[in-house]
Amino acid sequence: MAFFQPNLFLLLPLVSVLVMAPDLNAGDTAAHLHFYMHDTLSGSNPSAVRAVRVSDSTVLGFGDVVITDDPLTEGPDLRSAPVGRSQGFYSMVSQGTGDPTLLLALNLVFKEGARNGSTLAVLGRDAIYLPVRELPIVGGSGVFRLARGYALMKTYSLNTTTGDAVLEWDVFVVQ
Ligand SMILES: *[C@@H]1O[C@H](CO)[C@@H](O)[C@H](O)[C@H]1NC(C)=O
Ligand SMILES: *[C@@H]1O[C@H](CO)[C@@H](O)[C@H](O)[C@H]1NC(C)=O
Repeated sequence: MAFFQPNLFLLLPLVSVLVMAPDLNAGDTAAHLHFYMHDTLSGSNPSAVRAVRVSDSTVLGFGDVVITDDPLTEGPDLRSAPVGRSQGFYSMVSQGTGDPTLLLALNLVFKEGARNGSTLAVLGRDAIYLPVRELPIVGGSGVFRLARGYALMKTYSLNTTTGDAVLEWDVFVVQ
């Protein structure tokens, strides 16, 4: 199956678009989705809860597991238009403090328009202090059935005391 040059996607506008790319197989389509994920551990109504606590780290340590139902929005402000949710979990899988790395296992569940109820499955490595992390999109459902691709994730903001973070996502999938 033909796959894309990543730099082709960087030319696309940073809004959700559906495009045909020249090197796709007949009938294949490509989509670029751009949104923000709000991962909130603090406060009285967190969207992320530390369900397994084996470290004595105040935020997250090796072996800890966090379950998420994080809102996805169009803009970095939590009050901007909702896009969907990120439901899944992440775990700190690195030892020591040099290169803190999470395993992410998430279903991105879309709630708008023709994508309402459709999902993308993300399984990847998140070295949290890298400026850009690349995460494999390993499948999808609904309008994303048989999707494959990747996501580029950046930290928009991080509170190192609480662990609360806003992540900017650019997702590129083909079907
Ligand atoms: C999405 O689907 C659910 C369940 O079918 C429905 O309740 C909801 O109103 C839909 N949302 C939008 C924005 O279409
Ligand atoms: C991080 O969160 C704590 C607790 O809510 C707050 O007091 C602090 O101001 C926040 N830090 C930043 C940089 O936003």
